[in-house]
Amino acid sequence: MTRGGPPGRQENADGWEHMTHAKDGTVAVVGAGVMGAGVAEVAAAAGYRVVLLDVTAARLDAARDAIRRGLSARSLLHPGGPPVPEVLGRISYGTDDAVLADAAVVLENTTEDRAAKREVHVRIDRLCGPGTLVAANTSAIPIRYLAEGTRHPERVVGTHFMNPVPHKPLVEVVRSELTADGSVTRVTDFLRSIGRRAVVVGDAPGFVSNRILMAVINSAARLVEEGVASRADVDEVFRSCFGHPMGPLETADLIGIDTVVRSLRVLHEFTGEAQYEPRPLLLDLVARGRLGDKTGEGVHPRPSGPGKGDGA
Ligand SMILES: NC(=O)c1ccc[n+]([C@@H]2O[C@H](COP(=O)([O-])OP(=O)(O)OC[C@H]3O[C@@H](n4cnc5c(N)ncnc54)[C@H](O)[C@@H]3O)[C@@H](O)[C@H]2O)c1
Repeated sequence: MTRGGPPGRQENADGWEHMTHAKDGTVAVVGAGVMGAGVAEVAAAAGYRVVLLDVTAARLDAARDAIRRGLSARSLLHPGGPPVPEVLGRISYGTDDAVLADAAVVLENTTEDRAAKREVHVRIDRLCGPGTLVAANTSAIPIRYLAEGTRHPERVVGTHFMNPVPHKPLVEVVRSELTADGSVTRVTDFLRSIGRRAVVVGDAPGFVSNRILMAVINSAARLVEEGVASRADVDEVFRSCFGHPMGPLETADLIGIDTVVRSLRVLHEFTGEAQYEPRPLLLDLVARGRLGDKTGEGVHPRPSGPGKGDGA
């Protein structure tokens, strides 16, 4: 895998960088949902050959469409990046994980379910070569829990990418007690090569970001349930009083209400703290298939953004 300051590097108006030259080594992205599609896109835009894996062709088709739409929109807003067809041509799609044998880096982005994700890591470990770097993207599951079922826990590092991946330059890198120093260095170098900065944090449930954020989202849901404020007004307080670009309920819609509930459950299971028990408002939305931006409506009836809200 090529590292370091590459030729052909360009910086766009919004500050995110493209490294447009081709890089050695295949990056395998396991899980083609909201996050996997974004991670595959930025790795391909940086010059890597990417193979994106999921369990069904339908999920892969949806990811292919999302990547094409995202790249096209970004190329219009920020011309000067790598040509869209070239980036799309670097990504292949599949359901057969035998390709992991050839990967230099595996970026796992499967559903936030602790037992299922741990099994995925056992399988990744079995299929890929000893020199492969293995990164887990999880909202809240401790990396040690995912790594300790594998033969090489020292190479498993947490890479908590932020959503939407193409617009978020910082990745929360999680080092477990079992992670080798060299793995942290390798993942940090890799992230730099795809234009991402790393902040390295310890291995607590939810890490820094979601230990705090999920408690805030759950509290926001509770205030709405109790009739203290409307959904729109809860978000407005955060936007206008604190200068946050989005309120907590809009953020929940962006993340996906199913993923929020799964993350809260993981936090509740690992910490035992009642503040992480998913609120009925969120559970009800999941039961009704209102999962947020990915299904068109969630806490708010429309995709998240300033001024949205149903006033409930
Ligand atoms: N959505 C967010 O804002 C966000 C942000 C940061 C981190 N995360 C974390 O990233 C991970 C992925 O989140 P997401 O929002 O993309 O979830 P998602 O539900 O949109 O997508 C998960 C994908 O993984 C696939 N999958 C499940 N098991 C698989 C397997 N064995 N092999 C291959 N594919 C498999 C599913 O079919 C699905 O397409 C989760 O752990 C989540 O907590 C999410």
